[in-house]
Amino acid sequence: MRITLGVTGGVAAYKAAELVRLLQKDGFSVQVVMTRGAREFVTPLTFAALSGQKVITDLFGDSSGGEANLESAIEHIAVAQRTDLLLVAPATADILAKFARGIADDFLTTLHLASTAPVVMAPAMNVNMWNHAATQENVEKLRARGVKIVDPDEGYLACGMTGAGRLAGQNAIVAAVRETLKSQRDLDGETVLITAGPTREDLDPVRYISNRSSGKMGYAVAEAAARRGAKVILVSGPVNLEVPAGVERIDVRTAREMHNAVVDRFAHASIAIFAAAVADYRPVEPHTEKIKKSYAALTISLEPTTDILAEVAKNKGQRIVVGFAAETDRVAENARKKLSAKNADLIVANDVTAEGAGFDQDTNIVTLFSRDGRDLALPKLTKNEVAQRILDEVLRLRGVLHGTAEAKRSRV
Ligand SMILES: Cc1cc2nc3c(=O)[nH]c(=O)nc-3n(C[C@H](O)[C@H](O)[C@H](O)COP(=O)(O)O)c2cc1C
Repeated sequence: MRITLGVTGGVAAYKAAELVRLLQKDGFSVQVVMTRGAREFVTPLTFAALSGQKVITDLFGDSSGGEANLESAIEHIAVAQRTDLLLVAPATADILAKFARGIADDFLTTLHLASTAPVVMAPAMNVNMWNHAATQENVEKLRARGVKIVDPDEGYLACGMTGAGRLAGQNAIVAAVRETLKSQRDLDGETVLITAGPTREDLDPVRYISNRSSGKMGYAVAEAAARRGAKVILVSGPVNLEVPAGVERIDVRTAREMHNAVVDRFAHASIAIFAAAVADYRPVEPHTEKIKKSYAALTISLEPTTDILAEVAKNKGQRIVVGFAAETDRVAENARKKLSAKNADLIVANDVTAEGAGFDQDTNIVTLFSRDGRDLALPKLTKNEVAQRILDEVLRLRGVLHGTAEAKRSRV
């Protein structure tokens, strides 16, 4: 498990050094990020020596020279993807305000927006700063968003005053980290089968029919499910995406290969999510040699491929099966039809013609149509956020249809 520890500019910054050691002792790998304020109190060298990793201090740090590679140029994204939990300790009044408002003017605040990992913050400041209405409003806003706030202790403060504002004890902070991570692992013990990306159907040895699916949505679901504790099997068509950490990827090319890979593994899954854009048709007989150019019209006969979702969902038992519907018109009507025709439990439908939705985008606008009759229209969200909401809906629906997760697992 990888913790990114944000250290901000308060007197208690030195206490974060001990926190690094405690977290490492607990088996966490720790990446330290320091604000400019924090570096007024402690040097990055202290944290680099303790964590054994380069300390990140600047948003634009490594990207100015000719040597810059993509990883260093967009380091906040790379770190965001590696972060299982973002801990800010000590958290200044300033960082609470910035996180609450979504400001992104340095590495830590930008990372905060780029990351989907849970956030734990341990504030430390002067008692009046802590009690100030602005700080309290920010804390409430963060709590409402799911951020875990480890309340400061009361006592004698570095500023000479007495009251609430002292950084919580190290053990309380580590306990909050552990508890937060545990509560996020609601897919522990599940096996989630996911398909993603397009398929390619050969016309001849050099040409194929495919579609514009990037695989981003399916990969986001795979990453989210793995983070939440599931064993994830990702059957992937050809895409330009990295395998998310902890995910087993099976590469396939054609609809037939995807079908075979899914059929082999469906029996072991408790949840199956079909996000791939599988070709509906394939050439009846691909040419064994390259089709020669000619000025005459060319007719290619196509035959339907097997509908993978419909086929496996026929005998799904108590597995939860999720399909996707990329539509260009009558989205709700088509999605509801698909839900019953394919014996699915949930259809994630989107209008791919809408701005900010559909293929090769980082955002999506979807409605979740559930078997129990609920239609959940989500606003425009990043694909990572959509992935989390799909998994939330899967668990909610399973509770409604089959009772608790424990009961379900024993019956699949
Ligand atoms: C000596 C000194 C001690 C400070 N201690 C704290 C503190 O404990 N908590 C806090 O919220 N701000 C404290 N501040 C104010 C922050 O350093 C200031 O708000 C800064 O802008 C925080 O930047 P950062 O949040 O990006 O680290 C202190 C400032 C000084 C000069």
